[in-house]
Amino acid sequence: MNSMVVNQDIIANWEPRHASLFGAEIVRLKHRLAETGLFTREALGRVIERCPPSHFGLRARGVAVDDPKTMEGELGASSGMDAIRAIEKGRMWMNIRNVMEWAPEYNALLDRIFDEFEARMPGFKTSKRNLGILISSPNANVFYHADIQGQGLWQIEGSKSVYLYPRSDSFITPESVEKIVLRETSEDMRYERWFDDYSTIVDLKPGEMITWPLYAPHRVQNHDCLNISVTTEHWTRDIWNAYAVNYGNGVLRRTIGWRNGSTKAAGLHVYPKAAAAFMWKKMGRQIKGDVVKRRDFRIDVNAEGGRASID
Ligand SMILES: [Fe+2]
Repeated sequence: MNSMVVNQDIIANWEPRHASLFGAEIVRLKHRLAETGLFTREALGRVIERCPPSHFGLRARGVAVDDPKTMEGELGASSGMDAIRAIEKGRMWMNIRNVMEWAPEYNALLDRIFDEFEARMPGFKTSKRNLGILISSPNANVFYHADIQGQGLWQIEGSKSVYLYPRSDSFITPESVEKIVLRETSEDMRYERWFDDYSTIVDLKPGEMITWPLYAPHRVQNHDCLNISVTTEHWTRDIWNAYAVNYGNGVLRRTIGWRNGSTKAAGLHVYPKAAAAFMWKKMGRQIKGDVVKRRDFRIDVNAEGGRASID
């Protein structure tokens, strides 16, 4: 890491009010990730080349804007820098996962980020911290969904609109939250165009990051430029309690057809539900995701759309 910036805070404009807003409201902050030198195209090109295949995700969509078909891809013989150029001219989405597990300098940065948040927010203690890098094509989008843990989205290059929706039953039902924590598919989450009337739209630019309330639904629309973003994930005791309650409710609903559970993540009722969640896991009934069976294309910076089919 560039020693010049080691003594500078990663968050450039923190104010005391952010401590009470963090995790409860949409919070938009300025960051100094670019100044670490870890997110230049050269540095990211090397990260792409180092990424173990098990942590490398690459998807493409058809050329037509409304083509719903997605294809799975691989880096092939492409350099990391060429891969970024190929994504810049194509319709692709690269997801470099769990970077902290195999790139120590990014693990050090992740610790620095959360140590900084913890120092600023008494009682905020995080575990299972995660850092991923998303490199996506101009106009690429991520469909309406919600996530299982605390999330941060940090913009490095390009810009995108992040649509954030209220965390209420009108926009995400209790059943949808349970499906997410049970890791059943979240792709069938109900989304209607009119939801947008109730959304907060954040146009995220380089040097900005946002975080939002747990389980708040969101979708992302890249602007007409290459987008490089960093995602961080974290767990706190509150997030774990919410997970346990929703997991327990989901298990009960699936086993005894139980309905209308409390989702308050406080008090004694958390613990029987945590036990129910544990039992469910022991029973091995979780659905495993993210298993790619075949690759449809490989990166090819000289080909149309930046990719070549694998037959
Ligand atoms: Fe998300």
